[in-house]
Amino acid sequence: MDIWRIRGGHRLTGVCFVQGSKNASLPILAASMLAPAETELQNVPQLKDIDAALRILRHLGCEAEQRENEVYIDARGVSRCFIPHKLMLEMRSSVIFMGALLARCGEARLSPPGGCQLGKRPIDLHLAALRQLGAQIEEDGDEILCRAGRLRGTELLLPFPSVGATENIMLAATAAEGETVIRGAAREPEITALQDYLVKLGFAVSGAGTERIVIGGRRRVEHIEHRVLADRIVASTVACAAAACGGSVELRGVEPEHFSTVLHFLKQAGCDIIIKNRSVWLRSGGRLYGVGPVRTEPYPGFPTDAQPVLMAALLKARGRSVITETIFENRFRQVPELKRLGADITLRGQSAEIWGVDSLHGTVLNATDLRGGAAMIVAGLTAEGETQVFDEGHIRRGYERFDARLRALGADICLDQY
Ligand code: EPZ
Repeated sequence: MDIWRIRGGHRLTGVCFVQGSKNASLPILAASMLAPAETELQNVPQLKDIDAALRILRHLGCEAEQRENEVYIDARGVSRCFIPHKLMLEMRSSVIFMGALLARCGEARLSPPGGCQLGKRPIDLHLAALRQLGAQIEEDGDEILCRAGRLRGTELLLPFPSVGATENIMLAATAAEGETVIRGAAREPEITALQDYLVKLGFAVSGAGTERIVIGGRRRVEHIEHRVLADRIVASTVACAAAACGGSVELRGVEPEHFSTVLHFLKQAGCDIIIKNRSVWLRSGGRLYGVGPVRTEPYPGFPTDAQPVLMAALLKARGRSVITETIFENRFRQVPELKRLGADITLRGQSAEIWGVDSLHGTVLNATDLRGGAAMIVAGLTAEGETQVFDEGHIRRGYERFDARLRALGADICLDQY
């Protein structure tokens, strides 16, 4: 059990070097087993989900090691095509190994993935697309058995731009005969990052960042080096914390464009924001104004992963804010906990109405999921007295040394692990 202890009321000031992106690293780790090659990755965050992906790679026969923020993978020895249930349950991204295994081994045996409980998270789009590429898939209770004597390139239309399904198709299609075209693809920066890696690995992939991605043939490459992009959600979280606490923080090493929608609302809330190449400087007086309407949408819209932390930043903002969640059916799990701090939030279906209160009061909270837990920390930083967030390890799935990074900016926070 992790217990995050926060004493609120401190301004945040200083420079924050933003960690590498979890959601960009995970599909790249799965992609690293596509070809018998060695990969060296830089800027990989040290997180529980990354550790789970490395354990899957080792189970499949790869050498896979992390030292600080560097990862080395040797995928020449892949010898297995099944992933045990226990490893699958550790995170949602384990499902991306389905496309990678099909491509490398022609077979994949696994079970439905774990991950944050944000409502129904089916994988029907993944399975339908892989079937269209020629995979035979049988679902037997908790086991998913995929086989593909031959994968055939084809044109696929995704009815919703699912991030994971787009990644799975990209990986499987690298082994298909002929060209695969994905229409209605997700356009998130993590998809472009995966394309960049696949191109280095020798695959002909283009179009990422648009709704049409084309995957073609491969030339042989034996060794590649790749740097993971900065995490736009961690950057958004620190920006929301600084906005709510007041102060002046510079986020370094980021791609400002990747979280411009979050910055837009922080500006609307009263923050000064200066963007310079790969850094964002945010200054806040601490008392924000209500914003809205905020509506989560697939990229380039407002990211669902930043919704809980923006909500936390607005709890003491003057006036009313309205946030509508359209991606996940159950992503307001942080709300009952935030209300225990004294927040005034009313849920109406998929919308949350927040009326800013004068003060929040520290208490004991339970982290419900990764971003919900991060939101409780942001709220705790602005509450009077001590807030304790009891957490089964959700927050460390996505935030590397979060307590140390916030302490470096002047926050009073510590993490006790039992
Ligand atoms: C990725 O999840 C991210 N995870 C999530 O971040 C993020 O919230 C999400 O994309 C949306 O941006 C990783 O990259 C590891 P989706 P993913 O497939 O791929 C429905 C975090 O906090 N859907 O785009 O699972 C689904 O139920 C995490 O870091 C189907 O109906 O997201 C959801 O409502 C949480 N059928 C919506 O689409 C399918 O086959 C978006 O899911 C697939 C998805």
